[in-house]
Amino acid sequence: MARVFNNTIWSRRADNTPIKMGDLTVTQDRTLFVYSDDYLNSGLPGMALLASPHAWGDQPVEFKTREGFPVHPRLMSIIPGEGRRNIQRRVFAKMLEKMGKPTTPGFETDWEMALMAGANAIGHLALFRDDIQAMKWFERPLSTDVVGSRSKFWKSLREDISLDQTAFDPDVIAQYIGPTPTAGGMIPKLLVSIMDPGQGQWDGGITRPGTPDRLDVILKIEPAEYRDVLTLEKLCLDLHERAGFKVPRSWLRQIDGLKVLAVERFDRGPQGALLPQETFRSVIATGNRSFISNDDVEMDTLPGYLEKLGQVCDLDVAAAKKEFYRRYLMAMLTGNGDMHLENVSFLGGNHGTTLSPVYDPAPMRAWPQHDTRSAVPVDFRTGETWPHAIQRLGIAYGYTPAGWRELVERALADTASYLEELMALPIDQPRKDRLAVIVPDMRKEMQDLLVSGLKKTG
Ligand SMILES: Nc1ncnc2c1ncn2[C@@H]1O[C@H](COP(=O)(O)OP(=O)(O)OP(=O)(O)O)[C@@H](O)[C@H]1O
Ligand SMILES: [Mg+2]
Repeated sequence: MARVFNNTIWSRRADNTPIKMGDLTVTQDRTLFVYSDDYLNSGLPGMALLASPHAWGDQPVEFKTREGFPVHPRLMSIIPGEGRRNIQRRVFAKMLEKMGKPTTPGFETDWEMALMAGANAIGHLALFRDDIQAMKWFERPLSTDVVGSRSKFWKSLREDISLDQTAFDPDVIAQYIGPTPTAGGMIPKLLVSIMDPGQGQWDGGITRPGTPDRLDVILKIEPAEYRDVLTLEKLCLDLHERAGFKVPRSWLRQIDGLKVLAVERFDRGPQGALLPQETFRSVIATGNRSFISNDDVEMDTLPGYLEKLGQVCDLDVAAAKKEFYRRYLMAMLTGNGDMHLENVSFLGGNHGTTLSPVYDPAPMRAWPQHDTRSAVPVDFRTGETWPHAIQRLGIAYGYTPAGWRELVERALADTASYLEELMALPIDQPRKDRLAVIVPDMRKEMQDLLVSGLKKTG
């Protein structure tokens, strides 16, 4: 018989004291979540944007399992990703083995892993096996042990990730930083704390996430098969910042032979306050039962989803649409076709919801297997070309024709020095060669469109 998991979700109040959010039941065919009375009275943000305490009260939030979503979409991000490179998955598999628990691939193993690492994950939810585990976790002594830049930890990671050998020792990783929580995505990464590099030189030392007086970051670690990706990501983060986008601070470093990019977590406020965060994918998957992947929506239908979200959240829908489209245009002009629905998130609960800062803007078209213009499909009209579709989308996302033209001119100006900067980077030639074709082509298409558009309107 399939197992039933009875677990619990906790969070923290503004003063950082723990509070139980509610009870969670996960069965093969549904997820049920019931808010605790304490939480309902607290006015704190709900489990997910489409699962607000205001809408559900003491009624169970129910999600019926379907393909790709064995549990409520908001909780999917706590499960370690599938990739062979997933550090957490391998550390947890080893730990489960030690505990004598099965590691057979499947949801039950995945959920056991999530239960080991459900605290301090992205956002404001902390998943625990039960209330006793939760209380113990919140009362734990806060370790400030630093993993130095020359420790066995980095050596073990390096052997696996950079040199592609099999010497990776999950025990070493677990021993140093424990079962750290998961962050989604394809690139290997760890959620850790570092010394704030803004206040001195960061020497590559890391501590467990949530260490007092340290900065919580996502530490992305460059794998051999995506050599240069972090250098390119850093350039694009900086480019977006210069263009006036909200962008987290980030630091690119070489640590004991590994290239890493530390990105400040924007789901943490001052003194480690927890900010709710949910991907666009999670919101759509909760609201639309036929959604399985990016291919089940279109760029044309996303504004409608933002409008619907605006009905249950304090989201400035008009501003969010325009901002989303502006990011899309920047992605186009920088050679990034990978602005998928997990590369955009919402911050804040149902009150004061905003689009998250820009993250993961790496120009993935530099790799042939990711050379797609738009991860979210575009529904072309008969005979329509790419530039015209981009123009039509601009109007659909709320720009007037004149506003759109201004926006494109601005985006072209914001990215004018991009290719030159890219060519000056210490990266491999094949990446440069691909982007040296893709980027000017995109610029030319947009410039031509501006000229023909101007002609048309006289
Ligand atoms: N600075 C940040 N603060 C908080 N959460 C973040 C931050 N950066 C990323 N995230 C979260 O972590 C997830 C993975 O991060 P990211 O997209 O950078 O990884 P990736 O491996 O490059 O992804 P992909 O598979 O799209 O290439 C994101 O979907 C987002 O939910
Ligand atoms: Mg991503």
